[in-house]
Amino acid sequence: MSTPGKSDVPVIAVDGPGGSGKGTITTRLAEYLGWHFLDSGALYRLAALAVMKKQVPLDDEAALGEVAANLDIRFETHGGAVKALLEGEDVTERLRFEDTGVVASKIAAIPAVRAALSERQRRFRQPPGLVADGRDMGTVIFPDAGLKIFLTASAEIRAERRYKQLKEKGESVNLTRLFREIKARDLRDQSRSVAPLRPAEDAVIIDSTGLSIDEVFDKVVSLI
Ligand code: C5P
Repeated sequence: MSTPGKSDVPVIAVDGPGGSGKGTITTRLAEYLGWHFLDSGALYRLAALAVMKKQVPLDDEAALGEVAANLDIRFETHGGAVKALLEGEDVTERLRFEDTGVVASKIAAIPAVRAALSERQRRFRQPPGLVADGRDMGTVIFPDAGLKIFLTASAEIRAERRYKQLKEKGESVNLTRLFREIKARDLRDQSRSVAPLRPAEDAVIIDSTGLSIDEVFDKVVSLI
């Protein structure tokens, strides 16, 4: 079992708000290095889907913790694409829906949910290395990560990026609503009492507002 500070397996922790480009950068980085990849947001989203499926009230903290602790999830790789399964059902697409993200961010504020998912996340730390994408990778889950990056961008740009992504997936979205939701999600993520979204003291902060994905990627690679 790996605990923080007790593993020789290197970790690159990339944290930041949604829409900062983290997902694209970390997937690419893991591929480039040939390392494992942890999309910790996907775990919170899977927990959210389980909560929605079981119709657990969002104020029943004990029951939410139970659901997170007993998650039956699996990731399968098919020809390079990763599929997420919840209780054997393919939920890869539903995982990315905006309402799933909103519920994920609500249950992510609950200590019992975070505790239940912590050990699961640390188990991804396997040789030759791990690229971890999240909100608290560098601060809580892998505080001994060799490189910590905090990737950010203005809320306007993040809303626009999200808008394009969701549109491409055929979701009907409204930019103004998306912007409001992103601001509300930022506030929830930053102000919760456990593992709030903030850069680790030793993190390198990269603002991707005026940068292309390639430019951000080159910056990150230059830091390794
Ligand atoms: O990154 P993604 O948008 O998929 O994450 C969904 C939600 O899960 C975030 O808004 C955040 O509230 C929560 N989360 C978290 N800690 C992480 C990853 C995600 O609290 N490490």
